[in-house]
Amino acid sequence: MGTPLIELRQLALQFGSTTVFEKLNWTFDDPCWCAIVGPSGSGKTSLIHMIAGLERPSDGEVLVDGRSLASMTDDELSVHRQKTVGTAFQHFHVQTDKTALENMMLPLFFSGADLDQGRQRASELCSALDLTAFLQAPVRQLSGGQRQRLALARALMNRPRILLADEPIGNLDAENAGRVLELLRRERERGLNLLVVTHDDFLLQGVDQVLRLENGVLS
Ligand SMILES: Nc1ncnc2c1ncn2[C@@H]1O[C@H](COP(=O)(O)OP(=O)(O)O)[C@@H](O)[C@H]1O
Ligand SMILES: [Mg+2]
Repeated sequence: MGTPLIELRQLALQFGSTTVFEKLNWTFDDPCWCAIVGPSGSGKTSLIHMIAGLERPSDGEVLVDGRSLASMTDDELSVHRQKTVGTAFQHFHVQTDKTALENMMLPLFFSGADLDQGRQRASELCSALDLTAFLQAPVRQLSGGQRQRLALARALMNRPRILLADEPIGNLDAENAGRVLELLRRERERGLNLLVVTHDDFLLQGVDQVLRLENGVLS
């Protein structure tokens, strides 16, 4: 076995006197195609934010590829967020005054990737997610489901090693949910790893492992 993909070591999340979880330990190996379920408030969103390097644990550490996020410089953390992980979170975080294409190109400006290749990648992802007609449309004109697919497409732009997603198909009809699964399957073939918070049966059936986070315990 090589270096684990993600390691949670004695991870804790506390707010004042409230402990959501503590001493959380888990190892995710590559390839990882895994879902996290659990009751509302159990800390699922916070956990994947921590792995994304967007939230600091109260205690313990997250290692990705053997490197502790806490030991990274700001520049290294940016690279982690731009290239290692792609994030598609619940409130979409898409910029509504920009077009769909501009939203998708944004990660490339930060990572310095080739723009022509980026446009090609954007068009390939949009075609897979039935968003092609909206590439030049301002995001404020897009429906919730279209924005959700756009957030996912943007998360995959830099071909991240790990996709971290929080209920990524919550607003989608069956046809579009099928498109998302099909795209994820294809990305998996080129080495994508997935860690997804979801309660959707359709998505749960597509993963290799389901973890439950409840009462501070991951099992
Ligand atoms: N900034 C915050 N301040 C105080 N409590 C918070 C904050 N963020 C999250 N929490 C609390 O932490 C717990 C876990 O939240 P969250 O990770 O969103 O859980 P889940 O995604 O499983 O529903 C919840 O009880 C929530 O109220
Ligand atoms: Mg949540």
